[in-house]
Amino acid sequence: MSSKKYWSSRLGFYLAAVGSAVGLGNLWRFPYIVGENGGGAFVLLYLFFAVAVGLPLLIGELSLGKQARRPLLPALLKFRHPLLKTRSLPPRVIKGLGLLSLSVTGMILAYYAVVSGWVLHFSTQFLVGLFVDDWLTARSSFAPLMSNGALQISLASVHILALVVISLRGIQDGLEKWISRMMPVFGFLLFLLLIQALSLPSTSEALRFLFYPDFTKLTLSSPLHALGHVLFTLSLGIGAMVTFGSFLRESDQIPKAGYRVTFVDIVLSLVAGLLIFPLVFQGGGGAQLTDPGLLFETLPRFLIELRLGSLFGLMFFVCLYLSALSASLGLLEVILSHLMDAFKWTRAKACVVAGLLALALSVLPGLSSSVLKNVRFSGGSILESLDSLLIHWALPLIALGMSYFLAYQMPKNIKQEMFGESSSVENQIMYVKWEQSLKFSIPVIIGLCFLLKLLSYFF
Ligand code: PHE
Repeated sequence: MSSKKYWSSRLGFYLAAVGSAVGLGNLWRFPYIVGENGGGAFVLLYLFFAVAVGLPLLIGELSLGKQARRPLLPALLKFRHPLLKTRSLPPRVIKGLGLLSLSVTGMILAYYAVVSGWVLHFSTQFLVGLFVDDWLTARSSFAPLMSNGALQISLASVHILALVVISLRGIQDGLEKWISRMMPVFGFLLFLLLIQALSLPSTSEALRFLFYPDFTKLTLSSPLHALGHVLFTLSLGIGAMVTFGSFLRESDQIPKAGYRVTFVDIVLSLVAGLLIFPLVFQGGGGAQLTDPGLLFETLPRFLIELRLGSLFGLMFFVCLYLSALSASLGLLEVILSHLMDAFKWTRAKACVVAGLLALALSVLPGLSSSVLKNVRFSGGSILESLDSLLIHWALPLIALGMSYFLAYQMPKNIKQEMFGESSSVENQIMYVKWEQSLKFSIPVIIGLCFLLKLLSYFF
């Protein structure tokens, strides 16, 4: 494990947990999946799942880490029902679940690196645009980047290299400093851009699209898409929050931490929607609502029209890049903590191995819109299919296993402890509700989402 035992301050933990949760999932992925799934009704589903599924799982993952003080896999093994061996999952099953989530982490890291590379690309374009007149007019579009696979892979490699170098310096130095400097600036910048976007004439159409729930626009796949996105955006399932929880101090209150992280994450996704949809409906770049490039097709064009647009653009994409970096650091930390725990490797060795692995895995998604653009699975490119496999299938499946584990395998006294003073009625009620949602509502919701998705293949 890293030399760091606990977060040096409560704020440090929040910044890191929020830093892991807030990232491309909020600003890049949220707007286009809302577009893909018809708007307001999908947003409502997303909010419901964030509270009903995301929040209890987040609280569970954080407490698992805090109590075990180990990464996901050894934490699961540690809490295998110690008294009732008959009800205990065999170690093989637990290891299988853990390994599945670790492979998913590696693949998400690689796919995330490709999209982080796109952000890096726009950061450099806006940087040059600051000094060279008219540079951005031709270079603010997304298509040339999409058709250049070598460029995408190079950018992803730069991102992975940056991750490895930062991670080598340890979680405290690597994470806390970056995040604490960038978050307030990013918040302010988003606020300024939001004011500009919301003063466009298309705002009322955008607000209606985002918040008016027209349930006829939902498809049988929409619930699973909303659920997967909630898990992805809150960094759940793969043990990122378990690793963060393992650095929490004894006195830290987990449920409260869970509420706050979920709240900030939801607000940022909604802000992203409020920023992007007025631009889309204004006709920005002729972007398609359902296009994964939605953010990159609309925002750069809007930014260059603004006064001081190159500066705003540079600041926006640098901040977005830093938030992608901190989310990626969370992903990498999951892999590193497991490699160090299981093989007793040094941090340096684990960093290099994980970096090389991520690099290799990023090649296919990196080429998916150029050389390999004709390789398609049920209509989607390699990147889109990987996205769907990981986020719509793997994460909910792992979340199902996780809720089973937290509900039935983790000893009750340990679970009760994390809700604080058990003598307080309020805490007891909260505990009961939390446990019930793990035992009943989460498995039922996930099961239903899968069922509806399967039905979508027939109807
Ligand atoms: N939650 C991050 C985002 O929204 C992605 C992520 C997933 C980060 C899983 C860490 C672990 O961009």
